[in-house]
Amino acid sequence: MIVDATETDWPRIEQLAADAGSFGEQEMEALGAVWEEYILLGAEDSGYEFLVDQEGDSARGFICYGPRDLADGVHDLYYLAVDPAARRQGVGRRLLNAAEAEAREAGARMMIAESSSTRHAPGRSLCQASGYEIEAAIKDFYSVGDDLLILVKRF
Ligand SMILES: CC(C)(COP(=O)(O)OP(=O)(O)OC[C@H]1O[C@@H](n2cnc3c(N)ncnc32)[C@H](O)[C@@H]1OP(=O)(O)O)[C@@H](O)C(=O)NCCC(=O)NCCS
Repeated sequence: MIVDATETDWPRIEQLAADAGSFGEQEMEALGAVWEEYILLGAEDSGYEFLVDQEGDSARGFICYGPRDLADGVHDLYYLAVDPAARRQGVGRRLLNAAEAEAREAGARMMIAESSSTRHAPGRSLCQASGYEIEAAIKDFYSVGDDLLILVKRF
């Protein structure tokens, strides 16, 4: 069942992100900062939404997304991670579908996912299987040989 994340979900979300193995130290720190804003201000005022796929007492995965400043109807997909033990069972796709549905309801025209060319390969595959296309790339963005890929899905 996909629901809005609440305060008590943080340890599990942090664990899921750490287990993903593809988020660097800075991305983990940024996740903590984003979470604090979400809890402190709520989804609307913080501009960040967290959804979790709840199975019993524990979350099997989470997604974080939100509207981009200074653009009309553009939402960013920030984080997506599924428990390694629950992968390839459709959890990631369900979280992505739920985020897209909520974003569309809030007026999104498109969703953007930024990805590294050397990390996040499963996430890229999921996005591309869900209709995202690489519309731009910046070579050597993260480091030499690690490009920024911008995947876009238009609704
Ligand atoms: C990316 C991730 C969230 C996918 O979650 P998941 O629940 O396993 O994905 P799903 O089962 O919903 O997969 C849906 C489709 O995505 C694609 N896909 C997902 N994982 C894939 C993989 N490892 N290799 C190739 N394609 C993959 C497939 O098309 C899959 O459909 P199929 O299983 O019918 O072939 C998960 O692998 C993960 O947490 N990875 C580490 C973190 C990460 O890369 N996050 C994305 C960057 S923000």
